[in-house]
Amino acid sequence: MSGLKNFALAGVGRIGTFIADELLNAKVAGTVDSVVVLTRDSTTDEAKRLSARGADVKAVPAYDDVAAVTAALKGADCVISTISGAATMLQPALATAAKEAGARLFVPSEWAGVSAGKTSGIHAPKAALLGHLDKIGLPYTLFWTGLAADFVWIPLLDLGLSTGKVIFGDDGNAPVSFTSRTDIGRYVVHALTAFPLEELAGKTFRIEGSRHSFNEIVRLYEAKHPGTKVEVQYTPLSELKSRIEANPYDVKSTLQHDWALGEWAVGNDDNGKWPEWKPAPVTDFF
Ligand SMILES: NC(=O)c1ccc[n+]([C@@H]2O[C@H](COP(=O)([O-])OP(=O)(O)OC[C@H]3O[C@@H](n4cnc5c(N)ncnc54)[C@H](OP(=O)(O)O)[C@@H]3O)[C@@H](O)[C@H]2O)c1
Repeated sequence: MSGLKNFALAGVGRIGTFIADELLNAKVAGTVDSVVVLTRDSTTDEAKRLSARGADVKAVPAYDDVAAVTAALKGADCVISTISGAATMLQPALATAAKEAGARLFVPSEWAGVSAGKTSGIHAPKAALLGHLDKIGLPYTLFWTGLAADFVWIPLLDLGLSTGKVIFGDDGNAPVSFTSRTDIGRYVVHALTAFPLEELAGKTFRIEGSRHSFNEIVRLYEAKHPGTKVEVQYTPLSELKSRIEANPYDVKSTLQHDWALGEWAVGNDDNGKWPEWKPAPVTDFF
């Protein structure tokens, strides 16, 4: 057992909602004592829903108001960040507040592919946070989960399988990990409560529900939906690199580039640490 009983989660969006719900399930089961949710607006339907389930929802107008955030986090053993990828530059202030509030573990907003070593572009603030955590002496645990299996099949990412047209970087053959958000929530809350703290601090967990190249995904989709044909286009890596050079905050091109390099094949090294975790395969979600 980790001994972590009081949790706080910052930012309830596409990923955070699922982890918050799993923390609240653990509260009902008695493995978690309290769940604080930090959000910018505590009057939203989602905030009210989590509050009705037993979360202590606290409004934090700005994460750089360290004194206010510290006060909101008092009593939390572990602070989990699920802040938007576009707002990860706010995490050093959140981490400082967590440390000052007495938290023993910080879980940064990762929930994706490999961010380590990125010095520019959209993932650089994720990598830079680790230096700040080391500096302030707050232990942390990372969870790399690959793509959200239940969420990513959208035209916005050129992955709209059901529209009949997708675009992949390079040749579409690089492996990619897929894990559903429900399975991420289940694994993360289990790990943070059931594993010894020494096995959490300083550790990067690599978990996945399944792993396929995007070309394989198209074949699996067409096999699951007989009669459908998905048109596939490919963008050369050189073209993706040029787009990123022109705009380092081009999210879609950065993702397509990193997927094509295999950086989202995080592996399943840590699946077996919880043998009862049986993540759903990606084919359940399209
Ligand atoms: N693996 C994948 O396929 C995948 C998919 C999506 C995201 N991700 C990763 O998961 C993490 C969370 O992403 P997400 O898509 O869940 O994020 P999101 O839904 O866009 O945002 C999450 C929450 O962050 C808070 N937030 C956003 N902008 C903020 C700001 N300027 N100031 C303060 N708080 C702000 C908001 O919380 P409140 O509204 O509660 O204040 C928001 O609901 C990121 O690290 C992202 O890279 C991975």
